[in-house]
Amino acid sequence: MSKIIICGGRKLDGEVNVQGSKNAVLPILAATILNEEECVVHNCPDLADTRSGFEIIRQLGGKVSFCDHTAVIKTENMKRHEISGELMCSMRSSVLFLGPIISRCGQAVISYPGGCAIGLRPIDLHLKAFKELGVKIEEVGGYIYCKADRIRPATVNLLFPSVGATENIMLLATVSRGETMIVNAAREPEIVDLQNFLNRMGAKISGAGTEIIRIIGVEKLKKVEYNIISDRIFATTCACAAACCGGDVVLRNMEPEHIRLIISMLKDSGCKVVSGENHVRIQNSERLLGLGKIMTSPYPGFPTDAQALFMSALATADGTTVFVENIFESRYKHVAELIKMGADIIVDGRLAAVTGCNYIQGAKICAGDLRGGAALVIAGLSAIGDTEITGIEHIDRGYERIENVFSALGASIKRK
Ligand code: EPZ
Repeated sequence: MSKIIICGGRKLDGEVNVQGSKNAVLPILAATILNEEECVVHNCPDLADTRSGFEIIRQLGGKVSFCDHTAVIKTENMKRHEISGELMCSMRSSVLFLGPIISRCGQAVISYPGGCAIGLRPIDLHLKAFKELGVKIEEVGGYIYCKADRIRPATVNLLFPSVGATENIMLLATVSRGETMIVNAAREPEIVDLQNFLNRMGAKISGAGTEIIRIIGVEKLKKVEYNIISDRIFATTCACAAACCGGDVVLRNMEPEHIRLIISMLKDSGCKVVSGENHVRIQNSERLLGLGKIMTSPYPGFPTDAQALFMSALATADGTTVFVENIFESRYKHVAELIKMGADIIVDGRLAAVTGCNYIQGAKICAGDLRGGAALVIAGLSAIGDTEITGIEHIDRGYERIENVFSALGASIKRK
């Protein structure tokens, strides 16, 4: 079982080329199922989750080649409409293939998706919307059988601006007849990237980034070449590490607009943050300041994926920060591990109160999910002494060799 070993307490200095966005590329890989022509996707990160996406496409009968962050996908010979339980369990995004498979084959068989154990993570909003769009759905023995001779255009009112449900509805309605509308749609940058990719293939979608998305169905799509946006949560991870370790780090290939609130909060905690054309620079040499309160909410609010990252950074701040996790019901697995390092944190339901201490100490800790694992790396980088992190398979789902990213910035970190 491999692990990450960190000798903490070093400043971070240098430049990071921000990787392509995991949460943008996964729905885009699903979207390639809609297109019988070739799809070329650049800036595709090399992650466990993207490799799972490639395997799903191959299992359906498609061809995928991947080299130097470019994926070439051809699905003209796609002949299956089922995804194996093993691949469904490999990640949450496996459910995003449901819409495209139904659209392409008129039917689909899947089981429930996997993903980080940060809550129940039902897919009821996906399935309710699909029924409103004319899909017949039957659940038997843990499998979900879907059939639709054709998609019935409709206005779908989402109970919650679910990122995945918004993406799945877009994917189901892209190749159809008539106009489908999503009200109370998620507004994340990854939704806009999916709209741009689909429109580049010839789709007619508008409104992504707002709460109302319109999809005018088209008959056929054409070949496409596309660049994925950068990963705003990867960028936030590096920024939080620079903030609490101290130093001077430039994030290259990062659209500042996508982390506008993150930048504002890092400034409130005492960092100097300067944004320019496609880059953000973070400098800090002082102890961070507590931020009082942080509440997670849908974009453009504070991202739930940044909650653990900020918690690690603020564990040694001067002052208190109360976190309110409004998106997922059990996203505090990292707290017990941070307490092993000497952090002063009290959890009560969706609240976690962090009282900054002067320092945290290295310890043997274990990652329980993707962003919680990244948060433990941040804690290890800022801690005094050595930290050993196991469970790093969780981290590898969303970060390309995280140890290389931080060793390039001067950290003492290695994988064993
Ligand atoms: C996406 O997950 C991201 N994953 C998550 O990032 C991110 O935390 C989340 O959006 C919120 O921003 C990917 O894009 C692959 P949701 P998703 O549907 O689509 C409930 C990471 O670390 N819900 O917006 O699953 C759900 O339980 C991951 O990169 C229903 O109740 O998120 C949750 O409480 C973690 N029924 C809330 O909505 C449904 O049918 C938000 O979920 C769907 C969701």
